[in-house]
Amino acid sequence: MRFIRKRLVIVILILVGCSSIAAITISNEPFKEGVFIEPSEQKPGDKQKGYDYLVNGDYLKSGLGYNYYVLLNGKDKNNFLGRTGKAANVGYNFNLIETKNSKNLVVPNCLQCHGQVFGDKLIIGLGNTFLDFTKAPNKDDVKGTIARQLMKFIAPGQYQSSRVMIRSFSTIAPYLQTETRGVNAADRLATLLVAHRNPETLEWSDKPLLDIPDEVIPTDVPAWWLLKKKNAMFYNGFGRGDFGKFLMLSNLLTVKDTSEAAETFTHFGNVLAYLKSIEPPKYPHSIDATLASNGKALFEKNCSNCHGTYGDKVTYPNLLIPARIIGTDSLLFKANYQNSQFIEWFNKSWYAKGSYPARLQPFDGYIAPPLDGIWITAPYLHNGSVPTLAALLNSKERPKYWERDFKNAAYDYEKIGWKYEVRNEANNKTTYNTDKPGYRNTGHTFGDRLSKDQRNAVIEYLKTL
Ligand code: HEC
Ligand code: HEC
Repeated sequence: MRFIRKRLVIVILILVGCSSIAAITISNEPFKEGVFIEPSEQKPGDKQKGYDYLVNGDYLKSGLGYNYYVLLNGKDKNNFLGRTGKAANVGYNFNLIETKNSKNLVVPNCLQCHGQVFGDKLIIGLGNTFLDFTKAPNKDDVKGTIARQLMKFIAPGQYQSSRVMIRSFSTIAPYLQTETRGVNAADRLATLLVAHRNPETLEWSDKPLLDIPDEVIPTDVPAWWLLKKKNAMFYNGFGRGDFGKFLMLSNLLTVKDTSEAAETFTHFGNVLAYLKSIEPPKYPHSIDATLASNGKALFEKNCSNCHGTYGDKVTYPNLLIPARIIGTDSLLFKANYQNSQFIEWFNKSWYAKGSYPARLQPFDGYIAPPLDGIWITAPYLHNGSVPTLAALLNSKERPKYWERDFKNAAYDYEKIGWKYEVRNEANNKTTYNTDKPGYRNTGHTFGDRLSKDQRNAVIEYLKTL
C-alpha cells in the first residue's frame, strides 16, 4: 500500500473543548444520561458549487506564487482531483487562485487536514493522520526563509501576495508543536488566530489581544461524512448554530475585514451541502456475514443507545456524554472552562451575528459520534490515542507507548487500524505517549464487559458501517 505523506504546510482552523479521567462502571441499563443536542437552522446550498469552491476557491487569499510553489515542491504528478491547466500541477491540498496582486497564487486548502491518500486513492474527508506538527515550521524555517527572500528580492509583486500568509504563520507557527506526529493542532491554530483578531471587525493585531494558554491540545481529525448526522460540530459538540460560519474559520489566516468575510460566507452554504453529500468508503475485504450479524445484535444492545443504528433503520441519537461516564482524556473540553476568553471572543464576534449566526456552547464531555466508515478512521478517540478497534474495545490491549511506521505505513485488517509496535518508553516524535496530558487513552471501557468472541463479532459488524 502506498501512502503519500505531505509535509506539514499550514493552515486553518477550528475550535475545541475536554474531561476528568474517571473509571466508571456502566451498568447494563439502557443509557439515559446523554444530553440531547437540538438541531439548528443551516444555510442551504448547492453541493456541486460547494465542491468546486472547496478545491478551486479563494477562502484563503494569500499564499505562494505558482512559480515559487513549483520551485519548492515540483509539479504534482498525481492530479488526484482531475483539475485542468496549471491547477493540475498543484497538490490536491492546495488551490490555485487569482487575486488582485497575482494571477496564479497557490494557497493551502482544507484537504491539508481533511484528505488522505489511502492505498493509491485520495479519500476526501478522511482526516490526515500523517501530518507532523512536531516539526511545525517556525519563523526560522529554512525553506520558508528562502521563499521569503526569493519573493522579496526577485518578485516584489509576488511578495505582496504572500505577505499576509507569512505574517500569520510567523506569528503563530512557533506555538503549534505537538508531542507526537499524527495528531493535529488545529484547535491551537484557531485559538492563536482568534487571539490576534478584533472580534467585531476581524482586524489583525500583531500583539495578541487574549492570553495565550500553554497547552497545545492534540486531536485526531474527524471524518467529514459524519457531519450530515450531527446537530453540533466538533468533538465536544460546542459548535452550534450555522455550521458554515465554523467551516470558514480558516479564513482568519488571511481575512482583511468583515466585508471580505461576508463575501466568503456566501459560499459556505454550498460547502456544507457538499460535506453532507460525502459517503464513507466501503470496507475493501470480505466480511463474515454470520459473525457480523451476531455483532449487530451485540452492538444494538450495548452501543446503539449512544451511537445509533445503521443499515435498514438508520437512527442517530445526537448525544453529548458527560465526562464522568465517558472518562476519556479531559484536556480538550476542560480548556473551554479554564480559558473561557476564546468562547467569549467567538460569541461576541462577527460569526455570532447577522443571518445564520453561530455560537459556542461548552460541555464537560464529548459527543458520541456516528460510526459510519469507522474501519478507515484509525487511530481512535478524539485524540487518536488508541491505534486499533481491537484495542478500543478492550482497554487492557491499549498500548501505553506505541509507534507507527509513517514511512511504510500499513493497515491491519484484523485489528482494524494502523500497524504499530509497542515501545517501553516514548523517546522520539513518532511514538505516541499516553502519559502526557491531552494524550491519555483512558475511558470508553464499554467493550470490556464483552467476551473475546463477542468483541470479534462487534468488530466484524463495525466493518459493515
Ligand atoms: C490544520 C488542519 C485543518 C484544516 C486546514 C481544516 N480543518 Fe477542519 N478540523 C480539523 C480538526 C483537528 C478538527 C476537529 C477539532 C475538534 O473537534 O476539536 C476539524 C473539524 C472540522 C469539522 C467538524 C466535523 C465534526 O464532525 O464535528 C468540519 C466540518 C471541518 N473541520 C471542515 C473544515 C473545512 C471546510 C476546512 C477548510 C475550509 C477545514 N476544516 C480546514 C483540522 C483542520
Ligand atoms: C455511554 C455512551 C457510549 C456507549 C454505551 C458506547 N460509546 Fe462508543 N463512544 C462514545 C463517545 C462519547 C465517544 C467519543 C469519546 C472520545 O473521543 O473521547 C465514543 C467513541 C467510540 C469510538 C471511536 C470513534 C472514533 O472516531 O474515534 C468507537 C469505535 C466506539 N465508540 C464504539 C463503541 C462500541 C462498539 C460500543 C459498544 C460496545 C460503544 N462505543 C459504546 C459513547 C459511547
